[in-house]
Amino acid sequence: MAATLKGRSFLKLLDFTPDEIRELLALAADLKAKKKAGVRERKLDGRNIALLFEKPSTRTRCAFTVACIDEGAHPEYLGKSDIQFGKKETVADTARVLGRMFDGIEFRGFAHQTVETLAEYAGVPVWNGLTDDWHPTQFLADVLTMREEFGDLAGQTLAYVGDGRNNVANSLMVGCAKLGMHCRIVSPDTLHPEHDLVAAVEEIAASTGGSLVVTSSVDEGVAGADAIYADVWASMGEEDLIADRIRTLGPYKITEKMMSSTGKSGTIFLHCLPAFHNLDTEVSKQNPGIQEVEDEVFEGPQSRVFDQAENRLHTIKAVMVGTLGN
Ligand code: CP
Repeated sequence: MAATLKGRSFLKLLDFTPDEIRELLALAADLKAKKKAGVRERKLDGRNIALLFEKPSTRTRCAFTVACIDEGAHPEYLGKSDIQFGKKETVADTARVLGRMFDGIEFRGFAHQTVETLAEYAGVPVWNGLTDDWHPTQFLADVLTMREEFGDLAGQTLAYVGDGRNNVANSLMVGCAKLGMHCRIVSPDTLHPEHDLVAAVEEIAASTGGSLVVTSSVDEGVAGADAIYADVWASMGEEDLIADRIRTLGPYKITEKMMSSTGKSGTIFLHCLPAFHNLDTEVSKQNPGIQEVEDEVFEGPQSRVFDQAENRLHTIKAVMVGTLGN
């Protein structure tokens, strides 16, 4: 493991070089193979890890928890209402207290600045489990899934279809550019990514052989794609926008027709989950029309969404082992 990763926080992909990202992916693949083979190396033996959550989570919380236990660490879940964080105590003070007791801190929440402040004051590695701006551990799982399917990531094309301004889209744009991949953001004009981020990503892509296309045209965006990627149409905290998003993003629903319009028979479907793909959830029932992907695609042979979900475990483990492991 490169010395450059040791002691680092993992807050956003912009902070990491292409080689460091590739190294985390290689470590994740190695840790995954070892877990499948029943090999336990306990690379976080005796460590105590704080899992700080302002927002709910299934995959991220479970991945951090199981990864800790697999590697011999103790995970401690600290929910928003369990501690003084942000109410009676500042983020900086909480960071300094947690840093005296824990060896690493995971944070999931709203403002990205919160995780930056935690990292500035904690004195131990801090890992971003999702903020309003970035979802970097999700990206590692996404591209590990593509690597398992297609091999070398450089030159692969990923088309993200949906809200082009959210944390998943932001992370895909930056991460794909770093790895020399071709990223398409396929969104209505009103949901295109921020200009400054697009400019920064284009500069990265120019140095790696990757590319970025932002388009409102589904046909243009998905042509030749190796993976089509969807996320929910309204992120956590945007519940009041659901009706508007159903109207705006309806034409961007992933359909079997869209999957076949890539022109490639091997195109896979990815989704960070949770997904609205049928009417079986409480939110789906309350909001008819909220459905970013047809059930036939989600459950179909091109879907890799549960491989991708499993890879959250192996990639999150790699982030912790790479930055904190023995
Ligand atoms: N993809 C993802 O972050 O899932 P959770 O919200 O369940 O953690």
